[in-house]
Amino acid sequence: MQITSVGHAGFHIRTAAGTILCDPWVNPAYFGSWFPFPDNTQLDWDELGDCDFLYVSHLHRDHFDAEHLLAHVNKDATVLLPDYPVPDLRRELEKLGFTTFFETENSVKHTVTGPGGELDIMVIALRAPADGPIGDSGLVVADGETVCFNMNDARPVDMDVLHDAFGHVDIHLLQYSGAIWYPMVYDIPARTKSNFGKQKRQRGMDRARSYIEQVGATWVVPSAGPPVFLDDELRYLNDDRGDEGNIFPDQMVFLDQMSVHGSAGGVLMIPGSVADVRGTELTLSHPVDPDEIYGDKAGYIEKMAQRLAPVLERERQSWAASADEPLLPQLKDLFEPIMAASDLICDGIGYPVGLVLGEDTFVLDFPKRSVREPIEGEGRYRYGFRIDPQLVRTVLRDHEPDWVNTIFLSTRFQAWRIGGYNEFLYTFFKCLTDERIAYADGWFSEAHDDSASCELAGWEVQRRCPHLKADLSKFGVVEGSTLTCNLHGWQWDLESGRCKTSKGHELRSRRL
Ligand code: FES
Repeated sequence: MQITSVGHAGFHIRTAAGTILCDPWVNPAYFGSWFPFPDNTQLDWDELGDCDFLYVSHLHRDHFDAEHLLAHVNKDATVLLPDYPVPDLRRELEKLGFTTFFETENSVKHTVTGPGGELDIMVIALRAPADGPIGDSGLVVADGETVCFNMNDARPVDMDVLHDAFGHVDIHLLQYSGAIWYPMVYDIPARTKSNFGKQKRQRGMDRARSYIEQVGATWVVPSAGPPVFLDDELRYLNDDRGDEGNIFPDQMVFLDQMSVHGSAGGVLMIPGSVADVRGTELTLSHPVDPDEIYGDKAGYIEKMAQRLAPVLERERQSWAASADEPLLPQLKDLFEPIMAASDLICDGIGYPVGLVLGEDTFVLDFPKRSVREPIEGEGRYRYGFRIDPQLVRTVLRDHEPDWVNTIFLSTRFQAWRIGGYNEFLYTFFKCLTDERIAYADGWFSEAHDDSASCELAGWEVQRRCPHLKADLSKFGVVEGSTLTCNLHGWQWDLESGRCKTSKGHELRSRRL
């Protein structure tokens, strides 16, 4: 099996049976905020796009690059489609001209036939509302000699399905770095922000190490991030100044963490690196000396910013022009039907949310299921967002079903909140269609599963994490009377079972 990195979460996998192109991403995502790092524009994309199979793990814009797929990927390729509850990914690919779909079944091993023979594959599909834009996935490919697990940024909760179906994994490609707006956009003191950033940075790498242990592959490739921020106003987000509070550590930082913790088998791949993997044997070649990139990272980013400035400018030109049409009716049209269809989510949010768009403030009144102007004297809202109205006008113009996959991941906004993270709120913003909200509301109503238990450091706790059902016997860490689930870093007070990270989500626990 020959695996070529095509940047970020993208890989090209060549086997005797055929080739698979995974998550090719080249054009900037999220309002021009994210670019692939290191630069991958120089690759021969027409050759890479001439593939037999296409795998797009999910609809996040750093995995699903519509413009690129349209221009460079063979429309006769068979799409290996994850098993998602809403068919948005298939619909988007159909719009681009793909017609042949192999519909996988979640966590089931399939055999597909390419021009050169057969290949075993499995797509582990995550289907909780918090997983990507309603769905994220990882792909396993086995050609009879080598087993590759491309986990990208998915967070599967059950690794047994992988080992039961494929046995030993030879090469594991996974995310280890941040891909979120927290804590940078929050209106909190700089020192607190830096401390939260440090925790977030470390937790991301701890989670990846926990996966590495569970998968037990011979070789591990840190992938799927971080992006690079080339816009002047976002350049501070790049981890190029040794800032421990930065949530975007790069591959070198993580490979270092792996060796500090005694994990062998870390492999650096940059766009164009080729790994020839024959079972447990691996030979690697790079297109350039990686030191040209990481030796002077800030200098590399500066040159990249200069080179890609026209691309960023073109992106800005595509945003909605400032307009005079009042925003309130448009916001009402969008949000009120969704509120009306999501009792559980609106109740979970529980408070009016402030939306400051330039000079205007609007209120998403979740308890009353309405969008309105502020009422005099109502004070500061418990949750709020300050967003450039131009971005909001753009997502309204484009009928975007997901503000997380557009505005929030851009980090081009500010937020505040009193109290913990509210998962219902972000779920609401990513479910702005009837289909999505119906699925998410139903999911929350059935999500609670505390039937099984496990023992952790003198406590009996429910085995499945109340957040997204991670196995706490593997992801749970107890310090004093606090339990941390390393899958997303949520915490519980074991004495009371109270979730310290988000509203609701109680945990069953008792001291042994
Ligand atoms: S599954 Fe998300 S914190 Fe446990």
